[in-house]
Amino acid sequence: MLTVVIYGEASKKVIKEISLHEDDLSKTILELLQDHKIPIASSCMGEGVCKKCVINDNILSCFKLVKDITKWESPIIRISYL
Ligand code: FES
Repeated sequence: MLTVVIYGEASKKVIKEISLHEDDLSKTILELLQDHKIPIASSCMGEGVCKKCVINDNILSCFKLVKDITKWESPIIRISYL
């Protein structure tokens, strides 16, 4: 299955590569990142209020499902402050 690259824009480094499993697809991207101990900010616990969980410039990771990544042109999650 798909491998997702977690890229830190501040460090200009690949933070981690995550191989997706079938049971990841129904999680939110925020949950996936948290499961893999990526230090993604979130203070509203996925309510879509705090806007701290933003990835790829403008995507709220708590509102986007992992299965949506499979439709992206390239499976890269960019986190601005990492
Ligand atoms: S966790 Fe607060 S908006 Fe996503």
